[in-house]
Amino acid sequence: MRIVLLGPPGVGKGTLADHLKEKYHLAHISTGDMLREETKKDSPLGREIKGLMEKGALVSDELVTRLVVQKIEHGLDLKRGFMFDGFPRTVKQAQDLDAALERVHAPLDCVLTLEADFNVLLDRMTGRRVCRKCGALYHVTYKPTAREGICDVCGGEIYQRADDNEKTIKARMEVYNKSTAPIIDYYAQQNKLKKLNANVEAAEVRLAVAAVLK
Ligand code: AP5
Repeated sequence: MRIVLLGPPGVGKGTLADHLKEKYHLAHISTGDMLREETKKDSPLGREIKGLMEKGALVSDELVTRLVVQKIEHGLDLKRGFMFDGFPRTVKQAQDLDAALERVHAPLDCVLTLEADFNVLLDRMTGRRVCRKCGALYHVTYKPTAREGICDVCGGEIYQRADDNEKTIKARMEVYNKSTAPIIDYYAQQNKLKKLNANVEAAEVRLAVAAVLK
């Protein structure tokens, strides 16, 4: 199974990816996670990426696509199946992804688009907490840790992402509507698009996805 998880910031792509990883053993390629790793390096590129992410702006198509194509050509077990989360984010990235997958004879099967209202997204992002060590996702209301500030999975420290504040969330939403939403039409024209209501609990989203992937 070869999937793209599409949808606005905070809609639940990472949460769904964790479930699909477990259920279908798919590889998970999150460009947000890959870029956050780059920001940990004290390099000019790492600092540049950090600045863009903290503003809610997109990193250049060229850089992100290069990271993904490297992964496709040199690190991905194509037989196992995979899902992209947070990529593509522009029509150019979508076209380059199609071209790269064509070169390895592994075209996408489907694109799951999660949709939710802005107030739901805002609530999810402002309440999101992440483990610094293993990346496990939490929410102060919907999925709190058992012990405050400590990851249930690995005991790591819990933190709040620098871009999960109201000002940056609004900027990220504007970027999504302007640059990423046009991809929905791009995949609709290929008959690969499946739209899902993500205003509901995570368990309900999982049921709807299972029905679509059957
Ligand atoms: P990225 O890390 O990809 O962020 P995003 O797309 O904005 O998505 P999020 O990670 O915010 O949300 P999500 O949909 O995964 O939601 P989650 O499952 O965590 O990108 C960050 C930045 O990197 C970008 O702004 C850009 O600068 C750069 N970047 C990344 N990719 C790029 C690219 N391709 N090109 C250029 N730049 C790029 O859920 C959110 C919260 O809600 C969690 O707390 C979770 O527990 C909770 N939750 C989830 N689902 C539910 C539910 N159904 N009910 C209740 N709570 C729920």
